[in-house]
Amino acid sequence: MNSKLIAFAGVMLLSTSSLTSAQSEGTTVVPAGQEAPTAGATAPAPAGDTPAPADPTALASEPAETATASGKTMAAGDTMKVDAHPSKDTASEGNAPSEGEEGKYVDPAGNPTYRIAEDGTADWYTWRGFKKYGANCLQCHGPDGMGSSFAPNLTESLQTQSYYDFAGIVVSGQQNQWNSSGNSIMPAWGEDPNVMCSLDAIYIYLRARADGVVGRGEPKRPAKNEAAQKAEYDCLGF
Ligand code: HEC
Repeated sequence: MNSKLIAFAGVMLLSTSSLTSAQSEGTTVVPAGQEAPTAGATAPAPAGDTPAPADPTALASEPAETATASGKTMAAGDTMKVDAHPSKDTASEGNAPSEGEEGKYVDPAGNPTYRIAEDGTADWYTWRGFKKYGANCLQCHGPDGMGSSFAPNLTESLQTQSYYDFAGIVVSGQQNQWNSSGNSIMPAWGEDPNVMCSLDAIYIYLRARADGVVGRGEPKRPAKNEAAQKAEYDCLGF
């Protein structure tokens, strides 16, 4: 999953000539980003456009060792699957996380997830996601994902949204679905590397918040995951 999204972000960067302006506009309310991402073949479909699998339970009952993301590659033209494991199921039996590439945990369906140690120490992505959420999302969605008067509480949204719903909305934006005022705009972040290079981390942090396993404030900081940090910096072009 990591390599898919990093590769996806990389394609977005390479195919984008307006990167600098996109970055500088990233934190303002710009409906401009609403056009479909240029890397359409590999982009997560916006919520609602993704066909539901005929039998979601078939995926859920696959043994963990065949369903983890580690070792999966994404062929060109491959479409992403709808998440068979809504966030709230993470802690249920048979849905334990396993360690994927670069220390990123995945659930049995291969979706990114958190792992909080018994002493409360978060995994790197959960901690990093808290930081990246704070830098990119907090100003609208409020501290700790709790929402504000003008943007939804994401700890509630992720109770029902799948990983791909989430990724599709963050990449392409969303308008007037949560609030039909006509002026309720979630910007599209698909061309902003500060978000795209940390999309999984932000999701993982919010998933942990939605599941109630990470409280408000900064999660207990783990030892640095050098490989994950390097992957993020490589993606950012540092
Ligand atoms: C400029 C303000 C703003 C920023 C910054 C922002 N959002 Fe949003 N977001 C919104 C608004 C407003 C909505 C509701 C749009 C609607 O009414 O459909 C929304 C909706 C969403 C939704 C859909 C939730 C639902 O229940 O419909 C997700 C997921 C989301 N945002 C994630 C993020 C993430 C992750 C970030 C940081 C990378 C972020 N947002 C940054 C304003 C913002």
